[in-house]
Amino acid sequence: MLADEILRLKKERNAVILAHNYQPGEVQDVADLRGDSLELSRAAARVEAEVIVFCGVDFMAQTAAILSPQKKVIMPEAGAGCPMAHMITGQQLREFKAEHPGAAVVCYVNSSAEVKAESDICCTSANGIEVVESLEENMVLFVPDRNLGRYVSRFTDKKIITWDGYCYVHDRYTTEDVRRARALHPGVELLVHPECRPEVIDLADRVYSTSGIARHAKESPAREFIIGTEVGMNYRLKQENPEKEFYPLSEKAVCADMKKTSLEKVLSALETLEPRVEVPKEIADRARGAIERMLAV
Ligand code: 13P
Ligand code: SF4
Repeated sequence: MLADEILRLKKERNAVILAHNYQPGEVQDVADLRGDSLELSRAAARVEAEVIVFCGVDFMAQTAAILSPQKKVIMPEAGAGCPMAHMITGQQLREFKAEHPGAAVVCYVNSSAEVKAESDICCTSANGIEVVESLEENMVLFVPDRNLGRYVSRFTDKKIITWDGYCYVHDRYTTEDVRRARALHPGVELLVHPECRPEVIDLADRVYSTSGIARHAKESPAREFIIGTEVGMNYRLKQENPEKEFYPLSEKAVCADMKKTSLEKVLSALETLEPRVEVPKEIADRARGAIERMLAV
């Protein structure tokens, strides 16, 4: 079986498989760790294996390569990107900074290595508030996600100026989706990701990163939840809580790039140790500072 062959080859190659919570279920099942961006970054910084097989999208594998430059980072599907991460370039960020001298730059990890290299500190959906609060500056440029930036600004007195990027999967949820889901499942708690629009967040019961949603679903005595994040999340939720029910806020919430990885591609990556993810040293050295500063918060 494909999965058995992957597990055998993984040992032979001294490899570790990291998978994001949105990955196809069969890929999550062969992973050593599945998690949100923060957990996967932490794992990439500390793993001892020689090879990291990263099942997710480009910025996640690049973060692993930046944090572990002595390791081989392999991405089974090199064409899996995060459209939001490409909504700001290094040059655009340099211009944004020039317009706001003295402001600190916080970049969501869903960004290119070049943008990280131009930033003071990174954040993820799990630690955005703590990261912003850790800064001395009172003015913050937040890139690229306008929705996460606006969510964080609810919890701080600092002035946050957001870039106009967004995740097409989460930005697509509407208040009408909430109304429909609430009518179908009265009294059921709605958990959403902070990449959702402010008006959707206003109607949610709780706002968490993907692993925050998983933690809450496990610990809560409730037996049913409406889930306002990418539909792949429901695989993990159901696996960890077979007795509970999870209803997607919308079936349309599919991240096409997260679905590009397959078991066949994971096996081929382990066989060939390709496609390799490498970040030019000069950019990686500067980007590492912003990521490590976040990990220290
Ligand atoms: P998490 O860090 O919450 O897993 O989010 C990553 C992501 O890409 C959400 O769309
Ligand atoms: Fe990017 Fe959105 Fe896909 Fe997350 S769900 S990887 S933010 S496009």
